[in-house]
Amino acid sequence: MTKDLIRVGVVGVGRGQSFVEGATEAAGMKLVALCDIWEARLHDLAGQHHVAAYTDYESFLEHDMDAVILANYFHEHAPFAVKALEAGKHVMSETASNTTLAEGVALCRAVEETGRIYMLAENYPYTAFSQEMQRLYRTGEIGEVTYAEGEYNHPMDPEDVLRISPGLNHWRAWIPSTYYCTHALAPLVYITGTRPVKVNGLSIVNRDVDKKTVRIADPGSVILCRMDNGAVFRLFGLTLPGHSNWYRVHGSRGAMEITRGGGYFGPGQVRVWHEEWDRKPDEEAERVYTPDWPEHGDLARQAGHGGGDFWTNFHFANAVRSGTPPFLDVYRGVAMSSVGILAWKSALEDGRPFEVPDFSDEVARKPYEDDHWSPWPDHTGPGQPPPSILGTPEPSPESVAYARKVWKEIGYE
Ligand SMILES: NC(=O)c1ccc[n+]([C@@H]2O[C@H](COP(=O)([O-])OP(=O)(O)OC[C@H]3O[C@@H](n4cnc5c(N)ncnc54)[C@H](O)[C@@H]3O)[C@@H](O)[C@H]2O)c1
Repeated sequence: MTKDLIRVGVVGVGRGQSFVEGATEAAGMKLVALCDIWEARLHDLAGQHHVAAYTDYESFLEHDMDAVILANYFHEHAPFAVKALEAGKHVMSETASNTTLAEGVALCRAVEETGRIYMLAENYPYTAFSQEMQRLYRTGEIGEVTYAEGEYNHPMDPEDVLRISPGLNHWRAWIPSTYYCTHALAPLVYITGTRPVKVNGLSIVNRDVDKKTVRIADPGSVILCRMDNGAVFRLFGLTLPGHSNWYRVHGSRGAMEITRGGGYFGPGQVRVWHEEWDRKPDEEAERVYTPDWPEHGDLARQAGHGGGDFWTNFHFANAVRSGTPPFLDVYRGVAMSSVGILAWKSALEDGRPFEVPDFSDEVARKPYEDDHWSPWPDHTGPGQPPPSILGTPEPSPESVAYARKVWKEIGYE
């Protein structure tokens, strides 16, 4: 058994800690190395788990291991993934896969050229209710998807935001309101198996929402996606007051959703309904129930994000072992991440539609190979976009002073 475990190294000891905890025999993994530039936190965690610690990514890649899990900065995943693939490692990457279109093209090519497994660590599709909605969708009970809605709107206490976003140039302060769209989109793609082909984005401005943080990007957005079967998906996020993680799918002969309510994902129930005149004799007009996972419920219940954190590790390890790309492969990862980028292009033009290329097709993706359009502070320059539809607002002196106090408490210089 032990010899079949995938030997993994994790980059980033913030969110990365959940992969460290989840690299278990049950998930098919064994942790062997850690990498982070924040030395104190790195050595603490490596000491607890008795694994090798690296501050230099190139040296880390020389460690004898099968796979790398990327939980480094949001906007640096693709270049790190390409290096790991080229070093012969399989890669599971946190959201997003890429934050420029050129990175998306390079990442797809690197996976094809190296033949390694790549997976986007999107955990939101693997809740019990999303898995149940996928099962139901595949039975054909609601027909073909026509319209769907996904919401990942996650406001946080300003002090907590600052604790996980150290520095005025941290990606969480600059991330455009459309870029964190995969938590809203991925469950819908997983349930329906469709692919986004066109997007429109609108950004929502309200400087009051972030008056106590140094976040300068907009707090909300709505994205409309045209899917490859003609369906329309509406995505909503990101940090507007009124927490909501929620999903609904309408089909050609019925609909399903998770019920709304308090808690991170609401009550976790699935509601399925049909029109009275359109239901089959054995179908109820409406039913509401609490689903469980089809298997491994005992392990998933102990994991974060509605069990999703167990399933991403599990599917990645299985993909590596079998040599078969996972559902959340490089093409889906890049397409969904690129929805966020293209929706930002759209939002800066007040909603103009933008096409999402088929990243599995070299002819379709080639025109994007030099598209380095990027909102991050280290990429500013002529032709680069701002992080807000207002431009690049300044955080207030009061919020900067408060932030520095919080950052000092967590040992960030
Ligand atoms: N799927 C989820 O539910 C979920 C939840 C939280 C975060 N995330 C994602 O995980 C990623 C990390 O999130 P976070 O909250 O830990 O962010 P973070 O910015 O706090 O942490 C990134 C870590 O990477 C380290 N790092 C940066 N550059 C490095 C380098 N060159 N070499 C080695 N280490 C480096 C940083 O020191 C830091 O510890 C993000 O992409 C975020 O979107 C996903």
